[in-house]
Amino acid sequence: RSNIVVAIDGYSSCGKSTLAKALAKTLNFIYVDSGAMYRAVTLYFLRNHIDISNEIAVMDAMQAIELNFNARDYESHITLNGEEVSEEIRGMLVSDAVSEVSANKWVRQEMVRQQQRMGQSKNLVMDGRDIGTTVFPDAQVKFFMTADPKVRAERRYKELAAKANNQVTLEEVFENLAHRDYADTTRKESPLTRADDAIILDNTEMTPREQLDFAAGHVRPFL
Ligand code: C5P
Repeated sequence: RSNIVVAIDGYSSCGKSTLAKALAKTLNFIYVDSGAMYRAVTLYFLRNHIDISNEIAVMDAMQAIELNFNARDYESHITLNGEEVSEEIRGMLVSDAVSEVSANKWVRQEMVRQQQRMGQSKNLVMDGRDIGTTVFPDAQVKFFMTADPKVRAERRYKELAAKANNQVTLEEVFENLAHRDYADTTRKESPLTRADDAIILDNTEMTPREQLDFAAGHVRPFL
């Protein structure tokens, strides 16, 4: 491929999107938050009471969903059929349902197709669970991020607690992460796993700046 693709995969709440955004900004690449896409689809399924076990209903729903990113910002603002849903998709309602929806074959097929189209010609950073393994196996640079689960839960909890009228507890956040890690790594359709050529980045004791320098150092040779 002539355009550069950086794939960032890893467990939930490892700081993938923080690093991906910073890296995209530094390199002037496009940033795509693939998790936001699965979250927006999940929101649609919840709102419209789509029965995930009904294949026809799922396929119809996927045809009725249009997702768009604001290409010019690095905050992964996403619209679902024209409506800005960036805030709503971060709530616990979506977080608790997203692993089940994203395990669905038809959902993944459509999301992967759209993601591959986004990576056809432009330099981009995409973060998710299967970017280096399924979406862009030929990405020039791949990272696999991990961090201590307690540290991850605390980081995410702080983020959620900073938002108005959020009642969620640290234990609930921890449980949600543990559940998603388990579901994401054990599902049948492209489970979360490290690509053989992915560079491991354990950021338990790293600052965002250190992570950015580390990652950018690996991309520079391709610029
Ligand atoms: O990255 P984030 O935590 O927002 O992703 C939410 C969920 O979406 C994950 O727990 C996972 O189930 C799903 N996901 C996925 N494949 C991706 C990105 C996210 O299955 N590439």
